[in-house]
Amino acid sequence: MEKQVIFVVFCLAMAPVYGQYYSETVMPSPRQERMTRLHFFLHDILSGQNPSAVIIARPNITGSAISFGSLFAIDDALTIGPEPTSEIIGNAQGMYVSSSLDPTMFTAVMYADFAFTSGAFNGSSFSLFSRNPSSPPIRELAIVGGRGAFRMASGYALIRNSFLNLTTGDTIVEFNVTLYHY
Ligand SMILES: *[C@@H]1O[C@H](CO)[C@@H](O)[C@H](O)[C@H]1NC(C)=O
Ligand SMILES: *[C@@H]1O[C@H](CO)[C@@H](O)[C@H](O)[C@H]1NC(C)=O
Ligand SMILES: *[C@@H]1O[C@H](CO)[C@@H](O)[C@H](O)[C@H]1NC(C)=O
Ligand SMILES: *[C@@H]1O[C@H](CO)[C@@H](O)[C@H](O)[C@H]1NC(C)=O
Repeated sequence: MEKQVIFVVFCLAMAPVYGQYYSETVMPSPRQERMTRLHFFLHDILSGQNPSAVIIARPNITGSAISFGSLFAIDDALTIGPEPTSEIIGNAQGMYVSSSLDPTMFTAVMYADFAFTSGAFNGSSFSLFSRNPSSPPIRELAIVGGRGAFRMASGYALIRNSFLNLTTGDTIVEFNVTLYHY
């Protein structure tokens, strides 16, 4: 009998107590925000045997591949320089969707995680969520978060097409990124 009581008490002591789902709200200790700039090129390749962007859904099989509603998955290489053979320093994985009803104004809304595989930010990434119209030449994209060194980052990217093949849709895009993080 005593053994049973001890056993029950032991079990109760081991069981985690879930009293509520939130903690007390406190003032966090102030932290100094830091700023990092990044410069690289993204290679969005639809053509060839090993495309880095593939169409995964489209609304109308007879319409154009880039018409409103087409959705692409990407695993685009990020490189130091604009050449296809330039050193790879990371990759952007995610999606973009053709989002403009105006057929003369191709726009993609991009949802992607840009991760780095070398240098000081190896293992860190930032999250981009923004619309990307085909004009003007320099566009601004919003950065809404990050992982690793870029945890809780926010910032923006200024981008410009460095190369575009209108036949294949292959694009190489220059990125100037400004990130605010801790
Ligand atoms: C689907 O494709 C047909 C033929 O190209 C076109 O007439 C029609 O407008 C398209 N519909 C949509 C919703 O894009
Ligand atoms: C990047 O980090 C990974 C995982 O820690 C490691 O295996 C790899 O060697 C690193 N690469 C470079 C170029 O530092
Ligand atoms: C990125 O910054 C470099 C150096 O300041 C500049 O030469 C280049 O034009 C910029 N590109 C974009 C797309 O802002
Ligand atoms: C664009 O791609 C087509 C088809 O692969 C090719 O014939 C053409 O030479 C390319 N144009 C440029 C500027 O690379």
